[in-house]
Amino acid sequence: MRGLILGVAALVVTSSFAQAAGDSIAGRTVMVKCQSCHGKDGVGRAMLVGGEAPNIAGQKYDYLVHSLMAYKAGERKSPMMSLAVKKLSDEDIANVAAYYAAIKITVEPPPP
Ligand code: HEC
Repeated sequence: MRGLILGVAALVVTSSFAQAAGDSIAGRTVMVKCQSCHGKDGVGRAMLVGGEAPNIAGQKYDYLVHSLMAYKAGERKSPMMSLAVKKLSDEDIANVAAYYAAIKITVEPPPP
């Protein structure tokens, strides 16, 4: 399974590709609430409670919005994420999704 995970070879934060439905620049101010676990670059960090947060850099905008809305609605459960999205407005969610979606990533398949 590990071998299937593509390595993130390089990360560049770009803000020039603001998504239509969210504002990646405005999303920076929301990202401050996420960076201790997901990083400013969207790469998951080791958490104080143990384990690692998932990578979200360059994730599809629609998927990010969908996931965040699901945590907010309690359809998807995670103690940490439920807390993280609790006070976010729909606009905050769109903007922070645009921010993380705008991070440029390149991937490299694992060696044969
Ligand atoms: C305290 C640590 C922590 C903070 C703060 C946090 N997250 Fe998370 N996040 C997690 C963990 C752990 C998961 C995996 C939860 C699960 O299993 O569903 C996760 C999952 C996610 C996912 C789903 C990823 C996927 O591949 O399905 C998204 C999107 C996400 N976080 C975005 C955010 C955003 C945006 C913020 C800031 C508003 C944020 N997170 C704040 C720890 C955190």
